[in-house]
Amino acid sequence: MLTVRTIAALRARRQELWRSGHTVAFVPTMGALHEGHLALVERGRELADEVWVSIFVNPTQFAAGEDFTRYPRDEERDGRLLAERGVALLFAPDVKEIYPRPGVITLDAPPLTGGLCGAHRGGHFQGVLLVVAKLFNIVQPEVAVFGAKDYQQALLIRRLVDDLCFPVRLEIVPTVREADGLAMSSRNAYLDPQQRLAATVLHRALAAAAAQAQTGERSGAALEAAIAAVVAGEPAVTLQYAAAVDPETLQPQPNIARRVLLAAAVVVGSARLIDNILVEVQ
Ligand code: PAF
Repeated sequence: MLTVRTIAALRARRQELWRSGHTVAFVPTMGALHEGHLALVERGRELADEVWVSIFVNPTQFAAGEDFTRYPRDEERDGRLLAERGVALLFAPDVKEIYPRPGVITLDAPPLTGGLCGAHRGGHFQGVLLVVAKLFNIVQPEVAVFGAKDYQQALLIRRLVDDLCFPVRLEIVPTVREADGLAMSSRNAYLDPQQRLAATVLHRALAAAAAQAQTGERSGAALEAAIAAVVAGEPAVTLQYAAAVDPETLQPQPNIARRVLLAAAVVVGSARLIDNILVEVQ
C-alpha cells in the first residue's frame, strides 16, 4: 500500500491510473478504523480496480468544545488494517495540506443541515460538505463509498454530488453492528464497559419504534415518543434527539405514508452516538 501525504503525490499516482485505464473507489475516513469502515473498503473492491482511503480528522466539522483533539488517532494500526484488506493507496494529509489558508468558500444545504444532528452540531455538516468536496476534487474517484449510519451525511453528500455535478458514483453501505446491535463507531472507544452495555439502548429504542411502525403506528410523534421512552429506561444514557422524518427531506412526518427514517442521537459518558433505521411501511 502506498501512503501519500500531499495532493501533488496523490495526483501523480492518479495520472498513472488514468493512463492505464484503472478505476478508483474512494473511502474517506477520519481513521480509528473498525469493521464498519472495512465493509466500505470491501464494497469498494467490488466496484473499482483500486480502493483508495483517506484518513483525515477534519477540523472544520468539529464544533468548539467537541472531540477534535481527543478523537482517536492510530495511523500505524489503521494502515495495517487497510493494507491487509488490499487497499492500494492511503492519503493521510496534515491539516495544512487540506487547509493551507483560511477558506472563504462555504457550502451549506439549509433544509437538510438544519435538523437532526445539524441542530446539535453547529457548522458540522458545512465542514463535512467542504472537506468531501475538496477530497473529491483531489482524488477524482469513479466511485465513493459511505456508511448508512451517518444517514444525514450520506443524504447531504448525495445532494452535493447531484447539485454540483461531481462525476462520481455514490455507494452507501449498510451499518455494521456489534452482536448486541450497537452500531460500530470510532467513538465507541470512549465507552467504559458499563457505558458500552448501556449504549445498546440506542439501537433497541429505534428497533422498538420500527416494530411499532411496521405494525401500524403512523404517527411520527408517537414513534419519536416510543424512542424516547426506551432511552429513558437507561439512566446512563441521555437522549439528544429522536426523529421520525421523511427520508428525502428530513422533515417531520405527522402521518407516515410510505417510508420513515427513525434516527436518534444519545450521549453516553463522553461519547455522542448516533444510529438510524429506515422503515418501509405498507
Ligand atoms: O464520516 C466521516 O468519517 C467523515 O464525516 C468524513 C466523511 C470522512 C468527512 O470528514
